Amino acid sequence: MSTFLDALNKNNKSHIPVWFMRQAGRYLPEYMAVKNKSNFREMSHTPQMMAEITLQPLRRYPLDAAIMFSDILTCLEYMGAPFEFRDTGPKLDDHGSHVLSALKPLNPQEHLNFVGEGIRLIKLNAKVPVIGFVGAPFTLISYLVEGGTSKEFIATKRLLFSEPKKFSSAMSFISEQLVCYLDYQVRSGVNAVQIFDSWVGVLSQEQYEIHILPHMTKLISDFKKRNPSIPVILYSQPTTHLLSCLAQTGADAISVDWRSPLSYISQQIPKTITIQGNLDPIATTLPWEQAKPHVESVLKSARSAEILDRYIFNVGHGVTPHTQPETIARIVDFVHTFKV
Ligand code: CP3
Repeated sequence: MSTFLDALNKNNKSHIPVWFMRQAGRYLPEYMAVKNKSNFREMSHTPQMMAEITLQPLRRYPLDAAIMFSDILTCLEYMGAPFEFRDTGPKLDDHGSHVLSALKPLNPQEHLNFVGEGIRLIKLNAKVPVIGFVGAPFTLISYLVEGGTSKEFIATKRLLFSEPKKFSSAMSFISEQLVCYLDYQVRSGVNAVQIFDSWVGVLSQEQYEIHILPHMTKLISDFKKRNPSIPVILYSQPTTHLLSCLAQTGADAISVDWRSPLSYISQQIPKTITIQGNLDPIATTLPWEQAKPHVESVLKSARSAEILDRYIFNVGHGVTPHTQPETIARIVDFVHTFKV
């Protein structure tokens, strides 16, 4: 019995499920205690540490799902694009369009065995469904081309506009590797998967339709051929303008940012698709009394949109290092006791 999986199946009749993107992270003192003696790479490459950190927020809060502790960039190293996590964010050793042409096939069993082992350990201890994930091909390409997180993604967009064939073959190649990796995560035990397309919001609707949608549709349908019963959640931001396209990808759920109310968002999404979101993550940095109106507004919007049988509460983007642990506790309690 899981309200999270029920909501993904558009059939939740119980309390509203809740989890938070980046729920294991720097706002938790127990995460910082591990991090002060280690580093992100070791933490995400050691199955025992990966499992321990994944489970930390679940010990504190009655969350409805766990998300494996890893990163969307972790697989890139094994595709020939090594990088470093610095305090300022990820930094690739080399970047540019030539990196795309030199990508190598991923063998998850061999390269990412530590992720599989980590998932098995999480499954031994988690009482709730476990979410696996990958970065979407566009977002991964943006890192390969820009060399790190970018503001305007100028080099990525210039590549897409000037060399659409090269861009498209990189999208195809990466998609194939991601299907194998997601498949491996499922075989290791995850119960649902989320695809993070965090930066695709820089594209217009027309650009998304032409350059992204066909690849996302294929990626999701190839995954579903192998794993018909595993729900796929597609996350992106700021993408209110792309909702009708996102709804055509074949994803079971769309995870949305905070910029539009759920009452508006739900009108752009067919009733066959679950909606996840959409609290502004900055609200989690406030004391509960100040955060409460924001949480209430999201829940009331979900209720008025009549999506509560297919709705998962979450943030519109990951929680931050300034998130208050006590506020998270109160949000979880408030969501769980909200009258549906
Ligand atoms: O949600 C979770 O709790 C699972 C773990 C997770 C991490 N990264 C851990 C992490 C997930 C799902 C991700 C996905 C990810 N990684 C995305 C997509 C989601 C999003 O936030 O848009 C992106 C764009 C990345 C790339 C990335 N990794 C960046 C930009 C950074 C540095 C900035 C930051 O937030 O710290 C990372 C590092 C990273 N990934 C950290 C964590 C907990 C911080 C490491 C640390 O210093 O402790």
